[in-house]
Amino acid sequence: METEEGVRVLTDLIRRKGFAFVDGTPYDDPEHTKRLLERIAFIRVTHYGGFYDFTADLAMADTAYTNIALPAHTDTTYFDDPAGLQVFHMLSHEPDATSKDPNALGGESLLVDGFNAALELKRTSTWAYKILTEVPLPWHASGNKGIAITPERTYPVFETAPGNKALLRIRWNNDDRGVVPFHSGCSPVDWYDAARKWNALLEDKRLQYWEQLKPGRTLIFDNWRVLHGRSAFTGKRRICGGYINRNDFMSRWRTLNRTPEEVNRVVIG
Ligand SMILES: [Fe+2]
Repeated sequence: METEEGVRVLTDLIRRKGFAFVDGTPYDDPEHTKRLLERIAFIRVTHYGGFYDFTADLAMADTAYTNIALPAHTDTTYFDDPAGLQVFHMLSHEPDATSKDPNALGGESLLVDGFNAALELKRTSTWAYKILTEVPLPWHASGNKGIAITPERTYPVFETAPGNKALLRIRWNNDDRGVVPFHSGCSPVDWYDAARKWNALLEDKRLQYWEQLKPGRTLIFDNWRVLHGRSAFTGKRRICGGYINRNDFMSRWRTLNRTPEEVNRVVIG
């Protein structure tokens, strides 16, 4: 990560595969992980702060700050510009002192390639894919005092690029979703039928990738494409990480992985 070539390879892995691990990240101090993020681009500040370093203490009123299981979801659905990259680095995980089984830690991390799952939905239930692509919904962050964030417009679960209709971005978090609209031209009953199909795919073991995070192994993933979750855990774990904006990530990836001529063609047209 000290070299531009290292960052080129890392950003290209994330761009192509949706996620990457950075092994050998020092974990004696979260500062090393912060520096790693800043090798890609500056860290995004939100109402949760910028670079974070937390334990399950409910410091913020958010399920991330608990030890319960979290199903596959994307973060920050409530921004017009959801976080582009998300980074997790587990600095430590100590067993619960009162636990009978000191090895019972849990807390494996779940990743699901949302684009892959959405294309499977398109193949198997075209109508469901169409509904989740076409029905715009309200999204919100309002669990913390003084915070009431919602996008300036409504967004569907799947956003596609104009023209070729390729998948561009997925929003999926039941805890952040507003009311399914009654007057969108699609009955909420049909929307929930489609959502049930989508949810079943996210819970399909074939499409899930589970990995136990460990100190020294930083996970970086594309929050526009890859959904994340975790199993319940016991004991105390300390996780640090942060968000990076999509446009800043893509700028870094592009300038490292494309020729100046190719960059100009893409950014100027
Ligand atoms: Fe999350």
